[in-house]
Amino acid sequence: MAKVTIDGLEMEVPDGTSILNAARMVGGDIVPPAMCYYSKLKGSGGKCRTCLVKVSQGSAKDPRPMPKLVPSCSTTVQDGMVVENITSLDVLEARKGVVEFLLINHPLDCPVCDQAGECDLQNLGYKHGLAKTRYEEERRTFEKADIGDNIKLHMNRCILCYRCTYVADQLTDCRSHGVINRGDHAEISTYISKAIDNDFSGNMIDVCPVGALTDKTFRFSSRVWFTKPMDAHRDCKKCSGKVVLWEKGNEVLRVTGRKDKYGELEEFICNECRFEKKNTSDWVIEGPRHIDKHSVISQNHYELLNNIKVDIVKYQKQVAERVNKG
Ligand code: SF4
Ligand code: FES
Repeated sequence: MAKVTIDGLEMEVPDGTSILNAARMVGGDIVPPAMCYYSKLKGSGGKCRTCLVKVSQGSAKDPRPMPKLVPSCSTTVQDGMVVENITSLDVLEARKGVVEFLLINHPLDCPVCDQAGECDLQNLGYKHGLAKTRYEEERRTFEKADIGDNIKLHMNRCILCYRCTYVADQLTDCRSHGVINRGDHAEISTYISKAIDNDFSGNMIDVCPVGALTDKTFRFSSRVWFTKPMDAHRDCKKCSGKVVLWEKGNEVLRVTGRKDKYGELEEFICNECRFEKKNTSDWVIEGPRHIDKHSVISQNHYELLNNIKVDIVKYQKQVAERVNKG
């Protein structure tokens, strides 16, 4: 075990834990944001630099500070390490710079983007972004592309986090897409428009932190905050069958995996559950989904409405008691 202090909070974590995961064990504001790291995808992290932190003491044995800010997703804790996240002005300043860089080419099309309301970059931009851009050059633009029958790639919005390529690598039989070219010219490509046609490719949509990969069966159907997320499950031979149905009235507009408070899928789901089961009769509905993530979608009041119902029952009982007492 290693003792580590993050933003003044001391904790003991297993050796080999990254700073980010140590912070996640405690939760709250001390957790650095992460746009490319994904705990369920091996090798992810180290690309976006949003998770930079300051190590003001390397370890108990060698208390010297680390000379530069380090990515918390790929730096492991040492016994006696002292880390600063939101308590360091250097970190907050660097995070602003990273967000500005990520937004250099990313179009500000949130009003028409399906990811709005659940976009990590949108949330990060609100927290650390500048009100206007200082970039004067032309943004790079790409044609929209189809990745198989059900996924649309809008490369203009891609921040090259590589998560989708790890999904393709680790969850599907063959990887038929990846990042080609480098630097300014880097892009996600399906290698000469080869469609991705395998059972778990739809998970790329869920892991994409921005609106670069979207579900063609849901695109432009509704703003996500107008839908009602419901936990549901079905007997599925390919995956756990545990999903979230995003309903509007009695219609199921989309099906996604269940995400935790860090926006990561609890379990990957198959394409049959995601794209082919769009009737409530296909599912056993469990109840309203509690959205843990800080975002406009967590502002839905379905749970609150349920509580109000309970209160009304209580209120009716109290009234009845009073009436009976005369
Ligand atoms: S398409 Fe999305 S998941 Fe894939 S690299 Fe770009 S931002 Fe990341
Ligand atoms: S989350 Fe650490 S570099 Fe992207």
